[in-house]
Amino acid sequence: MRLLGFLVLLVLCISGKIRGEVSTQNWKEIEKINKKGPYIGIVVPNAFEMNPLLESSSFHADSKSPFFDFAGKRFRIGKLEKKRVIIVMSGLSMLNAGFATQLLVTLFKVKGVVHHGIAGNANPQLQIGDVTVPQFWAHTGLWNWQRFGHGAEDKLALEVNGDYTRKFGHLNFSNFNNHKKLVLNLLNSVWYQPEEVFPINSIPEVRQHAFWVPVDNKYFQVAKKLKNVKLEGCVNKTACLPRNPKVVRVKRGISSNVFVDNKAYRQFLSSKFNATAIDMESAAVALTCLQYQTPFIAIRALSDLAGDDSSSLSNEASLYASLASQNAVTVLIKFISLLPS
Ligand SMILES: *[C@@H]1O[C@H](CO)[C@@H](O)[C@H](O)[C@H]1NC(C)=O
Ligand SMILES: *[C@@H]1O[C@H](CO)[C@@H](O)[C@H](O)[C@H]1NC(C)=O
Ligand SMILES: *[C@@H]1O[C@H](CO)[C@@H](O)[C@H](O)[C@H]1NC(C)=O
Repeated sequence: MRLLGFLVLLVLCISGKIRGEVSTQNWKEIEKINKKGPYIGIVVPNAFEMNPLLESSSFHADSKSPFFDFAGKRFRIGKLEKKRVIIVMSGLSMLNAGFATQLLVTLFKVKGVVHHGIAGNANPQLQIGDVTVPQFWAHTGLWNWQRFGHGAEDKLALEVNGDYTRKFGHLNFSNFNNHKKLVLNLLNSVWYQPEEVFPINSIPEVRQHAFWVPVDNKYFQVAKKLKNVKLEGCVNKTACLPRNPKVVRVKRGISSNVFVDNKAYRQFLSSKFNATAIDMESAAVALTCLQYQTPFIAIRALSDLAGDDSSSLSNEASLYASLASQNAVTVLIKFISLLPS
């Protein structure tokens, strides 16, 4: 099968058929798929977070067109809890997540996007295995790195143009020096910046700014009903979490192209942004949906403590990733079942 796929690819490449544009043949297939829509789009970062969903008895692939491959992505068509869905695995991090979401909402008749996966936990009140549904998401990886010698009262480069702002605060590297004597930290500060967004219903090229992006209010109300979903609390017969995991709606989640495995930065993110879930994709999906005015929500199961090693629980993402992935999918399936038909 692999070899055949490779040969087809090779022939297409040689004949010059593989290019980025949507071919006439592609459009035919897309139209066929869209005739059965609208769909709920499901965006998931990686295979280990997607597989529990594909393996679930609640998911049934479409018998005629189970998937559509385009631009290095596979769009899986089917029904989940009797609702029509299109599932796409984005790959790691913000660029892939934004790109996959953009294709999903551009090519297909999608009435809303649900994103799920695992996340680091910056909230001391929650436990590994818990599943969070944040109300707001921000991308915390867009920075203005301030010149050495400048401080909080100095304007940032290009701030006067409205390109950058001091509104969302900063991280000062010298606050993290371990030795009191070391006073010179040349890294100075980075200031968190909102994204420039260009919503489809606004004038092209006229930028707006977005930092905290809210999830869809109707979806967030539906998520209230997820409280009593039963979740897995054991890795195996002998290794169980201290209490059974739960589903919680929380205030905030944050994303950036950074795997946070660092206690000091985790504490900073928690105190500065009051963030619970820390991941690498949700805000990109949120921002893309904001631009496309498409309802969005994210379900993220906590798999590790983002570098906090003071807990009695082992803090290894690798140990709890599969339990957390399963819990995220369990909650996703319940969420889809609660949506109106
Ligand atoms: C960051 O710390 C340095 C060194 O202590 C200081 O000079 C600078 O004013 C601080 N910057 C901000 C924005 O707080
Ligand atoms: C259960 O998982 C823990 C943690 O990975 C491991 O140390 C232990 O050996 C496992 N026990 C069994 C019975 O597989
Ligand atoms: C911080 O987040 C928690 C949990 O999401 C929430 O209950 C609390 O109200 C938030 N606090 C502030 C100051 O926003």
